[in-house]
Amino acid sequence: MSATATGPHRRALLAGVTALAFAGAARAAVATPARHAVLIRTLIGQMTLDEKIGQLNQAPGGRQRALNSRIDAAQLDLVRKGGIGSYLHVAGADFLRELQRVAVEESRLKIPLLFGIDVIHGFRTIFPVPLGMAATFDPDIVRACSRVAAIETSVSGLHWTFTPMVDIARDPRWGRIVEGAGEDPYLGSRIAEAQITGLQGDNLAGKDVILACAKHFGAYGAANGGRDYDSADLSERTLQEVYLPPFHASVRAGAGSFMTAFNDIAGVPTTANQALVRGQLRDQWGYQGLVVSDWNAILELINHGIAETPAQAAALALKAGVDMDMAGGVYAGHLKEAVSADPSLMPYLDQAVGRVLATKARLGLFDGPFRFGDSAREKTELNSPAHRTIAGEAARKAIVLLKNEGGLLPLSPAGKRIAVIGALAGDASSALGSWRARGQVGDVKTLLAALREQSGATIDYQPGAAPRGDDASGIPAAVAAAKASDVVLLVIGEDFDHSAEARSRSDITLPGVQSQLAQAVLATGKPVVVVLMNGRPLALADILGKADAALETWFLGVESGPAIVDILTGKVSPAGRLPAGLPRNAGTSPSFYAHMPSGRPADPDLAKDSARYHDVEIGPLYPFGHGLSYASFAYADLVIDKPRIGPDQAVAITLSVTNTSKVAGDEVVQLYMRDPVASVARPVKELRGFVRVALKPGETRRVTFHLHAMQTALWTTADRWRVEAGRIDVMVGASSDDIRLRGSFTITGAATTMEPAASLLTRVTVS
Ligand code: NOJ
Repeated sequence: MSATATGPHRRALLAGVTALAFAGAARAAVATPARHAVLIRTLIGQMTLDEKIGQLNQAPGGRQRALNSRIDAAQLDLVRKGGIGSYLHVAGADFLRELQRVAVEESRLKIPLLFGIDVIHGFRTIFPVPLGMAATFDPDIVRACSRVAAIETSVSGLHWTFTPMVDIARDPRWGRIVEGAGEDPYLGSRIAEAQITGLQGDNLAGKDVILACAKHFGAYGAANGGRDYDSADLSERTLQEVYLPPFHASVRAGAGSFMTAFNDIAGVPTTANQALVRGQLRDQWGYQGLVVSDWNAILELINHGIAETPAQAAALALKAGVDMDMAGGVYAGHLKEAVSADPSLMPYLDQAVGRVLATKARLGLFDGPFRFGDSAREKTELNSPAHRTIAGEAARKAIVLLKNEGGLLPLSPAGKRIAVIGALAGDASSALGSWRARGQVGDVKTLLAALREQSGATIDYQPGAAPRGDDASGIPAAVAAAKASDVVLLVIGEDFDHSAEARSRSDITLPGVQSQLAQAVLATGKPVVVVLMNGRPLALADILGKADAALETWFLGVESGPAIVDILTGKVSPAGRLPAGLPRNAGTSPSFYAHMPSGRPADPDLAKDSARYHDVEIGPLYPFGHGLSYASFAYADLVIDKPRIGPDQAVAITLSVTNTSKVAGDEVVQLYMRDPVASVARPVKELRGFVRVALKPGETRRVTFHLHAMQTALWTTADRWRVEAGRIDVMVGASSDDIRLRGSFTITGAATTMEPAASLLTRVTVS
């Protein structure tokens, strides 16, 4: 469904991955082949207690920005003694080959090491940050980027990445909203599948694939007040219907590992949550892969106040089903003590060791411990032109046109004078986002550089103000440049370090003196295009209200600048959509489109007592799914093939969408549903399908969504998922608040099912 770049490289990469598009359903129960089962049993039989515990120990081999820096002679000795199962924060084909050689040649049992790293949105070729990737509403491009990330990571000697972050985020104060797919569990499930199948391919023992890790299991994204690491206090319904579905989709897509969250749900830290990890994830969902803790999270069970000693913390995590201790050294230092105090832990320990060994076997490491890592390919694959082509396509697709009054965009820049105002325009480091693995600032083409190269305009660049700090001395020069220009590009937002881990903010307006800069520039009366760069939805109602046009560009990675210029100039029509709404102010957070109906729905009339704030308009500034285009699209002819279905049947919802303009463009057709009368209140709207369709001027396509009754199920403590009899309303449109077509069908009977409704895929056909 691509309206943008083609070419042999892109086709080759996409061909390799679209074949994997959705084999997901069958992947959940990955059985260990008999030959591996024998090997694992034999090894466990031979291992000393120390060697077993060693397999559960994941040590930092370096730091996030100083990979390999902790591997010294003492570490090598530990490897020889079998004291390490895995390293993270390491990289490099030659370096890791030598480290692996020590493990498989110089340790007693010759068990290979597992090497992991955070490749959150690209290894060396950096793609848009995950929130931006989700804004593409295009699982194919997400999969293609993950495929590239897997190639670059695996040729660099690594087996495993701690991606995807599938946490739902409904509070933009939470800094880690940048690392996920936003506020909606259906979109989050589709993006998670695409990432996992892109990283892992069809077979983990194959070439150029790496192990994915769905994180941070539980409800990490529901942290109170958007404060990172804080407790999640949420209802069982919200946990099951909103936060867990993308994890369930990850299991079905075959994710080889899971990471438990730092935080607790209603007092139970997930790292010690037997009911959730051992019970729901493993026993109910059939997940057989590895579970790793988050960094030091086992030791932090003491801070949570549910363990007094490291040995108690180790026992709790092991019993919960956490196989590997990331960086905490608690299993390594205290599990022995825990097991001698309580020998009943031994079977849990053996299970955990078995899962670590099975993961190594799945990756083919017993057969070929050096099969990852290729120093020759490391030189050619990393940041290759083919990979950058994919990065460019993703970047263009991620850009969201928020507003475009009077058709200011696209610009015809040739011969014009453009004032480019804002330091982010030339900030290559911020374009990489906060996680960058081996990304290099020098690889980035910034907006400023691309404008100078590509636009044919006279560019008058004035930083005006840095993204943070209180130096306003550059504002007068910025205002002068604006006054002398034909059009202003006002590039504002956050720098890369304002969002991500431990970067929660209570004030989500512009940091530093950027608001002052923006207001001064807007006051010139010149046409202003706001170009937002940020890792979270910002609250900019006043500034966006005054601007003529606005683009949300997130942090777009190495091809950031050319992608934004292509959109600004209309070479490509924008079609990204917001994966999380833009709030009017931080005080309205958390808020989301899929809210429950109230007995007193929000009413514009302040004289009425209704579910709203008195000091701000109702609803977000721009809602989930919002995004404009230079083209225009008409929706027509909604047909639902059956008026009535049983609870085990599906309907086909068909409509046509026509490009009624003179420019080519993609349209993201979105399907929402509502169960208007049920045994419990249901959300006013829930996304249940989407497709990004490329349409030439005048072209019409028929889109069909195949929606199963199971996808309307609601959570009940007694039955798990229950399909209820009654009417279901469907809404199709261009955004959650731009519904163009409506219809309904009736489910004639009730049924119980086992699968979270939002995690299930709605197949879409386009003809
Ligand atoms: C802590 C983060 O929460 C997690 O997402 C990451 O994978 C680990 N650190 C490893 O860097």
